[in-house]
Amino acid sequence: MEDGFDFARLAAEIGDRPRTASEFVQRALRAAILDGRIPPGTPLRQEALAAAFDVSRMPVREALRQLEAQALLDFTPHKGAVVAEISAQDQADTYLIRRALEPVAFAQSIPHLTRDDLDRAEDLISDMDREPDHGRLGELNRRFHMSLYARAGSPKLVRLVERQLIEHDRYLRFHLAMLGRDRMSQDDHIAMVKAAAGRDITAAISVLQRHIDVAAEDSARFFN
Ligand code: NI
Repeated sequence: MEDGFDFARLAAEIGDRPRTASEFVQRALRAAILDGRIPPGTPLRQEALAAAFDVSRMPVREALRQLEAQALLDFTPHKGAVVAEISAQDQADTYLIRRALEPVAFAQSIPHLTRDDLDRAEDLISDMDREPDHGRLGELNRRFHMSLYARAGSPKLVRLVERQLIEHDRYLRFHLAMLGRDRMSQDDHIAMVKAAAGRDITAAISVLQRHIDVAAEDSARFFN
């Protein structure tokens, strides 16, 4: 098989076939991407997969579409679908850095947040509630968090925080696709704005830390 990965063997290893062909292909690929058997950057070509899994191209196309919605694949103009840069280690690292940096940025920002900043944060919470597209929720979540850290008075710290939130977006999309949107923890978001409005740094930080810890624990499960 091309590109060094034996998709036919992967197909043969799957035990009971799920109800539909596309589900079968999707489950096999997802498991192999998550446990690292198919390395990041590996191209997933429709014809090769259809032959390996002994299905037609339509279910393969549907499976790839689903995997893209879960942020496990990227579509590139020349290579087509390739396996995204995603791993248990990278995810754990992303949360570790968020856990270290965001409370510092939030604590420094709280005394300087304006009514406008807090209004914007509240608007973003409503936007998230109304947004039907999981792909857009990651961006709204990032903008929400950044609106609370923006007054930290440290452009470098704020840039580092934003960089991690951008990397986190991929994992968030994956988890939303798997678990549903109630995992956005909007209650935490509301509590963070309330504590920030009351200038209660201790309360605000403890909500944020729990928010990140719970997400990290939830997320770690997908890679085991
Ligand atoms: Ni959040």
